[in-house]
Amino acid sequence: MKIKIAPSILSADFGKLNEEIASIDKYVDLIHVDVMDGHFVPNLTIGAPVVKYIKSSHPLDVHLMIENPEKYIEDFLKAGSDRITVHIEACDDVEKVLKMIKNGGADPCICLKPGTPLSEIEHVLPLVKGVLVMTVEPGFGGQKFMEDMMPKVRELRAKWPEIDIEIDGGINAETSKIATEAGANILVSGSYIFKSEDRIKAIESLRG
Ligand code: DX5
Ligand code: ZN
Repeated sequence: MKIKIAPSILSADFGKLNEEIASIDKYVDLIHVDVMDGHFVPNLTIGAPVVKYIKSSHPLDVHLMIENPEKYIEDFLKAGSDRITVHIEACDDVEKVLKMIKNGGADPCICLKPGTPLSEIEHVLPLVKGVLVMTVEPGFGGQKFMEDMMPKVRELRAKWPEIDIEIDGGINAETSKIATEAGANILVSGSYIFKSEDRIKAIESLRG
């Protein structure tokens, strides 16, 4: 499968977000947007009113780390989200949320925290375009990659050869290889790309 790179704007300068995106837009495949509510995770970021003004030539990959995501799906669809990922741990009725995303014209994806086993999401896999496997505790950029999540990736890839497997947390030139060898095809990377002196070189190093 072709490897896609999804820079996480969490590590970009939010004061000049569209300039930051323009600095890497030609070299990437998706733009990863981390939405946090201060409840589901101990950090707050941006909501749909900001997402609406993000400019990129690539699909917006919106990762919702929020409680009651069903309340906000409509807003994120209207703001131009192309993929919307919800956490299994945050959904009361996950099938309903995934259908709302699909009916709204975006790709529905499911995410699981490091402590959540694959068995918790297996029943919704026929409804999703992709699975986002967290390789850090969600909430902050710049944490260390958890290699012990790779068995989840290998098992998913073996059972679902066509599904998108997206890895989020601690991705750099070394860990990207571990993740793609296990079967991941979309790599989210925040601090490694945006804190590099040469962002383009950093992106190319992720492709291996
Ligand atoms: C963490 C976010 C990630 C984060 C990744 O909760 O979901 O997308 O920005 O940052 P790095 O690549 O620095 O680990
Ligand atoms: Zn993310």
